[in-house]
Amino acid sequence: PDPGWTASADVVVVGSGIAGLSTALRYTELAPNGRVVLVTKDLLATGSTRWAQGGIAAVTDPADAPLSHMVDTVVAGRELCDPSAVRALVAAGPDALRWLVERGTAFDRAADGNLDLTREGGHRARRIAHAGGDATGAEIERALIHAVTDDPRIEVIEHAFAPDLLTARPAGAGGGPSAAGVTVHVIGEGEHGGVGRVRARAVVLATGGIGQAFASTTNPEVSTGDGLALGLRAGAVAEDLEFVQFHPTVLWLGAQARGQLPLISEAVRGEGAFLVDTEGRRFMSERHELGDLAPRDVVAAGEAEAMARTGADHVLLDGRHFGARMWEERFPTILAACRKHGIDPVTDLIPVAPAAHHASGGLRTDLRGRSGISGLYAVGEVARTGVHGANRLGSNSLLESVVFAHSAAEDLAARTAADSAEPLPTSPAAAAPEGRPGLVAPANVARIRTVMSRCAGVVRDESGLRAALAELAEIAEDPANGGAEPGKTAWEATNLLTVAATLVHAALLRVRADTGAGGASGPAAALPARLNVRVALGGHHEL
Ligand code: SIN
Repeated sequence: PDPGWTASADVVVVGSGIAGLSTALRYTELAPNGRVVLVTKDLLATGSTRWAQGGIAAVTDPADAPLSHMVDTVVAGRELCDPSAVRALVAAGPDALRWLVERGTAFDRAADGNLDLTREGGHRARRIAHAGGDATGAEIERALIHAVTDDPRIEVIEHAFAPDLLTARPAGAGGGPSAAGVTVHVIGEGEHGGVGRVRARAVVLATGGIGQAFASTTNPEVSTGDGLALGLRAGAVAEDLEFVQFHPTVLWLGAQARGQLPLISEAVRGEGAFLVDTEGRRFMSERHELGDLAPRDVVAAGEAEAMARTGADHVLLDGRHFGARMWEERFPTILAACRKHGIDPVTDLIPVAPAAHHASGGLRTDLRGRSGISGLYAVGEVARTGVHGANRLGSNSLLESVVFAHSAAEDLAARTAADSAEPLPTSPAAAAPEGRPGLVAPANVARIRTVMSRCAGVVRDESGLRAALAELAEIAEDPANGGAEPGKTAWEATNLLTVAATLVHAALLRVRADTGAGGASGPAAALPARLNVRVALGGHHEL
């Protein structure tokens, strides 16, 4: 249908976490006449960034070195990282931190005025800056939202869901279509209410992760893989999607607990807390030389094994030796979350279990955020820049978001300066692929999450993944989908199914290519070379 309204800008940014806000702000720094429309499907502050606890990794201590940060990143990533991307990440780390400070972020400081640094799993040095003790993301989000709302060149549209890409085919050009904006559905009245579109010379996807594809996650409700699904529908390539990171210490609230669960930051272990199984045995000491501070995939697998041994569905985190003062000053958010659920970390062991936390893969980009579709960029968790490999090093994601937002903004500034013409006539990219499935009924979301957690969690094998694929195909064929009305919940359900099916497909390819322990994709398995997955939507996942 014809859009009710059209807005235009040089750049449209979709998403308002650290990646989207940083891209918009850096772009207007570099292109003083540039205009940005930033659309976000809920309120500006609703995404994952504000839940980030541990901090942001960067080498600021003279005793540390970018090369050490690089080695830790590549080792945690099981050597499936792109070295050039990791080099760019660690080299730009200190500047990224400085920029956040210039933009108003108040990091915690030691008595000498230097940044107070902590440690997380896989890091062999203290190099993680934090804010508000364990509220780093909330402080960064606060500062960047303040800067964005202060910038008259950035127009923000909230409650604006972007289902599809608009494309244009430049006259005379031999190549494929260029991104030229997005379709938008805004909940509410006013100038930008209802169905509309934002036309722009470039589109930046900064929509975050996919945690809501699983039954339990640290991610907020909005993390439904919308940008990833939009990119896949538009024909962009995804890579490393099978590498979902399961955070090892998420507050265990019972086997039936679903949705977003409270994170117990890895920085708690960085400051000396340790894991025990329900029989009181420290199970990480013999598993890895870094013990409780091994990379996350190793710790999550250690927990899975400990739980299988004891028959419990959780393990326990012991930070009682911190004492009340340290819990109150250093980890106030975590302390409050535990106490809200009747657990006092000062006197009690904290029950924890792994939950979906971060997508190490995503839409494949180069080091300037370019997706391969002209004018379509991806930054932050939705992107696969190559820095994380098979398993992201803790606190590298906020860093990745700022570093590659900045390089994308440089590219955008050059692109929009070179091309001053009005945006070209557009058509929806998603109308093109044949066999595009229709909408998915929101009632199917619980089923998608259950099968993903059961079959595509920490421990995977070929038969489980095949069963998952079969069930996802059944969900796609559910006659109840025919009654789904276009709107946020149905688009989210559709995106979750798209992302889940693609991820399981990638995981199956991984397991089949895997030469390691019994076909399991656990950390003991030797990982083969990277696998590219280009998705044909329509439910055909031939294997
Ligand atoms: C944490 O605080 O443990 C999470 C940090 C991250 O995911 O990088």
